[in-house]
Amino acid sequence: MRVVGAFRDSYGMEPAGVWHAPGRVNLIGEHTDYNDGFVLPFALPWGVTAAVSPREDGVIRLRSLQADEPVTLATPDEAEGWARYVAGVFWALREAGREQGQQEGQGQGQGQGRPVGGADVVIDGDLPQGAGLSSSAALEVVVATALNELYGLGLTKMEIALAAQKAENDFVGMPCGIMDQAASSLGEEGKALFLDCRSLGTRNIPFDLASHGLQLLIINTGVHHELADGQYARRRKDCENAAKRLGVDALRDVTDLAGALAKLSGDERRRTQHVVTENHRVEAVIGLLRAGAVREIGALLNASHLSLRDQFEVSCAELDVAVESAVRGGARGARMTGGGFGGSAIALVADDRVESVRESVAGAYAERGWATPEIYPATPAEGARRLL
Ligand code: GLA
Repeated sequence: MRVVGAFRDSYGMEPAGVWHAPGRVNLIGEHTDYNDGFVLPFALPWGVTAAVSPREDGVIRLRSLQADEPVTLATPDEAEGWARYVAGVFWALREAGREQGQQEGQGQGQGQGRPVGGADVVIDGDLPQGAGLSSSAALEVVVATALNELYGLGLTKMEIALAAQKAENDFVGMPCGIMDQAASSLGEEGKALFLDCRSLGTRNIPFDLASHGLQLLIINTGVHHELADGQYARRRKDCENAAKRLGVDALRDVTDLAGALAKLSGDERRRTQHVVTENHRVEAVIGLLRAGAVREIGALLNASHLSLRDQFEVSCAELDVAVESAVRGGARGARMTGGGFGGSAIALVADDRVESVRESVAGAYAERGWATPEIYPATPAEGARRLL
């Protein structure tokens, strides 16, 4: 394994262990996680692998096979760029340890493990770049999974996902929901992860497309529009404002959609329409998957895309063209996946239509003078785990 060789070269010793955490693709349930709603992502066969050894002096030494310069951090605060995702996990786990220590001082809680010290780390990733397949969540989750084991923290997979999300929210400063980290930590081979983002209850739903003669293609637009991060925070705010106006804790709680829409206008009205109907679509997809009617989920994927494009306004020309040309080429359904403004679309395609979908998408991109998007099938893989 090349991370092990690189670890030896960098630090002159063997790593204590090697861990892997995958990226994710979301089948349906977009921009619902931070509204306490439902999501249905699955973990991918690609992600981030980390060779790690603990250090008692608290120092964090990092090397990425995808970056030139190694990084040495006396404290997490010194980190910049990609290293902040790693440093943020140390920060989040140390914070959690401190809070637990204080609670124990007050006679509550049970201590577990040692305080999180430092580590020597080498990471290697094989997720397609800029594809919106959660390479940052994979990086956070692999580090959290390794530290959990090396420092004996006894965290569950969901607690690992929450620590990774805390790193991204409070250290990196990206106000994401829990979906990406949960999919990376809890994914199972051959299954999609149904997650209730309020209760954090999960169910693994069998998602075996091959036995139905189907494939789920990822179409990587290769673009990432810069406005993405600011727009994400704005959408979140729109949703919170709408919930406040409606007197509910979160848009998840809207039961009378028509009544709610009558009380809202503008952006808040459109965002609410998307979130409430998207939650319904997730439940409908689950119902169809349970009934073995996988082919029938296509219409719900199409409806999700239109809602994200017109009501939530997070699509872009490259995603719309990918979706429309995939459907024209014979896909049973297609939608943008992830946060939007670039990244990837997904298309549900019968085996005998895969070539025609590829040609249709490539042709539509070529017509506009855009680079041919990468297109590859995705199957659900196992979540974060120790490899060595
Ligand atoms: C990004 C965020 C997730 C989720 C999606 C949209 O991937 O990290 O938490 O909100 O966007 O569904």
